[in-house]
Amino acid sequence: MCGITGYIGYRDAHPIIINGLKRLEYRGYDSAGLILYDGKELKMSKTKGKVSDLEKRIKKEITTTGNIGFGHTRWATHGVPNDVNSHPHFSESENLVIIHNGIIENYDTIKIELINRGYTFKSDTDTEVLINLIEEIKKTENVKLGKAVQLALNQVIGAYAIVVFDKTKPDEFVVARLGSPIAIGIGEDNKEFFIASDASPFIEYTKNCVYLEDGEMAVIKIDREIKVRKIQDDSLVDPDILQLKLNLEQIEKGGYDHFMLKEIHEQPKAIIDTFRGRMLVNEGLIRMAGVDDNMQKFLNAKRIIIVACGTSWHAGLVAEYLFEDIARIPVEVEYGSEFRYRNPIINKDDIVIAISQSGETADTLAAIKMAKEKGAFVFGVCNVVGSSIAREAHAGAYTHAGPEIGVASTKAFTTQITLLSLIALKLGLANGNVSKTDYHSYLQEMELIPKKVESLLEINDKVKYIASEYKDAKNMLYLGRGFNFPVALEGALKLKEISYIHAEGYPAAEMKHGPIALIDENMPIVVIATNKGHYEKVVSNIQEIKARKGKIIAIVTEGDTTVKGIADHVIEVPETIEAFTPLLTTIPLQLFSYHIAVMLERNVDQPRNLAKSVTVE
Ligand code: M6R
Repeated sequence: MCGITGYIGYRDAHPIIINGLKRLEYRGYDSAGLILYDGKELKMSKTKGKVSDLEKRIKKEITTTGNIGFGHTRWATHGVPNDVNSHPHFSESENLVIIHNGIIENYDTIKIELINRGYTFKSDTDTEVLINLIEEIKKTENVKLGKAVQLALNQVIGAYAIVVFDKTKPDEFVVARLGSPIAIGIGEDNKEFFIASDASPFIEYTKNCVYLEDGEMAVIKIDREIKVRKIQDDSLVDPDILQLKLNLEQIEKGGYDHFMLKEIHEQPKAIIDTFRGRMLVNEGLIRMAGVDDNMQKFLNAKRIIIVACGTSWHAGLVAEYLFEDIARIPVEVEYGSEFRYRNPIINKDDIVIAISQSGETADTLAAIKMAKEKGAFVFGVCNVVGSSIAREAHAGAYTHAGPEIGVASTKAFTTQITLLSLIALKLGLANGNVSKTDYHSYLQEMELIPKKVESLLEINDKVKYIASEYKDAKNMLYLGRGFNFPVALEGALKLKEISYIHAEGYPAAEMKHGPIALIDENMPIVVIATNKGHYEKVVSNIQEIKARKGKIIAIVTEGDTTVKGIADHVIEVPETIEAFTPLLTTIPLQLFSYHIAVMLERNVDQPRNLAKSVTVE
């Protein structure tokens, strides 16, 4: 959840770290800190608040420069967000310093032992416990920093990505990971190294990158190749040096006020990037190595279990409709967090599909590890290349949405649905549940979706106007049926996470079983009422709302006249195949939430209490 970044080399470390923290701020933003080694001393500045607050503080507190340093942007787990609990943390002697992303679960017992040995603690964090444990082991075992880190990590339970520095040996960093990502950028001739939670802080300096695997650590020394070892048994590992494809433009706002708005507008291209090279309409072919190479497993599967969290879980629900409708394979959709602790029944011929934008969500990752242990075949649908879930899965396919930086998922959702539609179609054709003719119609229609999304982006001003009418609402309901029930859930999630307006999504027919009691003239209700999929029934629901004076914002198919006559506002989406309607109906709901949040002066890209990738359970 936190962002970590570091530099060791010949350049001024300060701007590299600050810029890196700004790019990683989506991961957590309740406090921030930086430490520099100026050749003699460690200079630290840290504060509750954002990286911009840290910059102000640094101006007053750090006057020297240095070629070594690291920084942290925090999403609090242990200890409230305040200056003292911010990272970095010193050891008792103040020789060692650490930044940490993750949770040390057994910190309490270790802390008591250390207190008994005379250690004192300034913060309430588990991280300060870890650095003192490392110091204690270094002292008592008389070992180098790398060894002390390794021994300490073998005593802790939890998840971590850490960077540790010893000012008495200031030519190296020790980094380690278990459950939280770490990327190491390698400069030319090993003259400099960059460390970060993802590669975005260093892409303008180097494209050579090593992603540590879970349970690995590295000692990073200038002029030397990085040595990667297994934390558990000290064995050496030959690291894979990857060539990054990311570029600077992809992680900048590109003229938009917010990343979220930029990412909403990127959807036509992102959807094309998802099907590019995979969907060959003229040949009537969908190519996807992860599925092609395992087709027999998919065809033998008695059911598919989808595990995911948040927006990705909503994409999983859309996939349930897609797989059952198109490929006639039974599907169960599970929250990673519930699935992992429920002792679920998993059979060898089950296929588990994990959906995750970041590929780092702790609950989803733990769920697939458990499914693997029980013998299931795991398929990953991730956006971030090389992420933990992508690596842990037996096979998978990337959505290729490009970096999603706004905390509220937008293009991740539509590209996940695009990819899952292709898989459903592939399986449906292979198992004979989709005729060649229908299959072709689906492919032809999918090819048109990006243009239709583009046309929806043009109604931005209309959506903005409707948003202005409802920005002061205290509650909202979102209703949809069939393929658009998950869209209702997603619309409500978008609104609450960025505007802090309470909103709930329901299957439209469920309204009568409770939520109808909430309806009065102050309750705005967003109803997805496209012309296919139980249209008449949804129209009846709209009538029921109107009879109780609720305000209706309806998402309808172009040319609709019935709902227009009843609803307070209508937003038209282009006609499409029912199964693909979520790719269109989602767009105005994203814009609606965005505009309300902007009008309420919320921090759209970094809503309170949230983080982009939830790497703790
Ligand atoms: O990276 P993931 O897709 O696994 O993340 C899952 C959720 O944390 C994420 O979708 C979250 O719900 C977003 N803030 C929603 O906009």
